[in-house]
Amino acid sequence: MSHDDNIYWQQGRLDRQQREQLAGHQGVCVWLTGLSGSGKTSIGRELEGQLHQREIRTFMLDGDNVRHGLCRDLGFSPEDRDENIRRVGEVAELFVEAANVVVASFISPYRAQREAIRESMDEGRFVEIHVQCPLEVCEERDPKGLYEQARNGEIENFTGIDAPYEAPDNPELRIDTSEDDDATVSADRIVTYLEDGAYLTL
Ligand code: ADX
Repeated sequence: MSHDDNIYWQQGRLDRQQREQLAGHQGVCVWLTGLSGSGKTSIGRELEGQLHQREIRTFMLDGDNVRHGLCRDLGFSPEDRDENIRRVGEVAELFVEAANVVVASFISPYRAQREAIRESMDEGRFVEIHVQCPLEVCEERDPKGLYEQARNGEIENFTGIDAPYEAPDNPELRIDTSEDDDATVSADRIVTYLEDGAYLTL
């Protein structure tokens, strides 16, 4: 018998709709996926700022930060990345239930991981944004010097070098940061996308 058999879901007094009424907008998860150095974090920060200015409740989840706490026990093997994204997906879902716009910024290299999160959320609550940038450009930027270390064999399982990245086939939005590397412009495009698609509208 799994311990799940003895654990029951406790229904709260409030539901998401009531929390959304109070917030004045829907809860949504905006998921930024892309290579290290593609610009996810910069765009995510900017996006959070722009939404906040519009009096929208936001919360940012970022790979580098989450790995200091919630996922500090995890590395970069395929299994650990799966677990990293699984946990983060669960947290994102809770924040969406709390009527927040979650800005999640993770390499999340496996299509199946991202699809699992999409499946776990209600229709229209998961907005996948592919932050696209050729590996050569990310490597050229190398903001943390990690590509160089990976090339020198000092880091293993580095995405794009000796670990795969599976680009989304059908993301809600694709943003190419190789030409136009202005995070404000990219965030603007995401806000427009959310507004045009009425993703936040009650
Ligand atoms: S994910 O693959 O599990 O989604 P996540 O986004 O949480 O990755 O963390 C990626 C960050 O960890 C990178 O931006 C980089 O700073 C750092 N990092 C350290 N080692 C690796 C590695 N082997 N592959 C990718 N990123 C790494």
